[in-house]
Amino acid sequence: MNIVTYIGQQFARPSGIGGRISTLIMNLINRKMYNTCAEIITSDSYPGKVLDIGFGNGYMLDILNNRSPEKKLFGIDISSDALSMTRKRLGDSVSLSLSGVEKMPFGVNFFDTIYTINTFYFWKDPQKALSEIYQRMKHNGIFINICYTKKWLDDISYTKSGFNKLTNEDMLILHKRAGFSNSEIIEIQKGKSFYIICRK
Ligand SMILES: C[S@@+](CC[C@H](N)C(=O)[O-])C[C@H]1O[C@@H](n2cnc3c(N)ncnc32)[C@H](O)[C@@H]1O
Repeated sequence: MNIVTYIGQQFARPSGIGGRISTLIMNLINRKMYNTCAEIITSDSYPGKVLDIGFGNGYMLDILNNRSPEKKLFGIDISSDALSMTRKRLGDSVSLSLSGVEKMPFGVNFFDTIYTINTFYFWKDPQKALSEIYQRMKHNGIFINICYTKKWLDDISYTKSGFNKLTNEDMLILHKRAGFSNSEIIEIQKGKSFYIICRK
């Protein structure tokens, strides 16, 4: 396997020493995304249940755990090494599961807020995953999907394989089809990163 394919795989499912390094790199390059996510979630002090889909090394959960102690935090990830890194970092203060977004170990109408940062490209069946997210959310709950733009990803060598890159508009259509309303695309960095925010 060449190095470019290896890097892409580490972003999709971190493992071993490469997984530790790649998640630290993400922590450096995704700063603006984490800040945006933190601003939205900490803007209300309601003690709701919040889920991080694909938490990586738990950087975002750590921020929320410190800034919003009133919330009950949950996380899922398909990588067992991501799970170990995050358990080590956060102990029992956050409820973590080894699980994919396609079938989550929670009841229906369970979460007040669900967010995901840079994982959408790796979901095997995005429409099914969005329907699953919709099911697990309470009525009026908020979903925040933070991503790099297709255009920006297209210029990076390691995203050539294993990344399902959709335009912002095509992503928005999938969210609406899953049943979400009030769906909006909001830019974080011009032409580079954005989020979709929507309600059940
Ligand atoms: C690029 S990393 C982003 C990590 C973290 N969200 C961050 O921004 O620092 C993608 C993460 O999503 C996880 N992931 C990939 N596919 C997934 C799926 N189908 N369900 C849940 N997690 C998934 C990977 O294991 C990895 O930890």
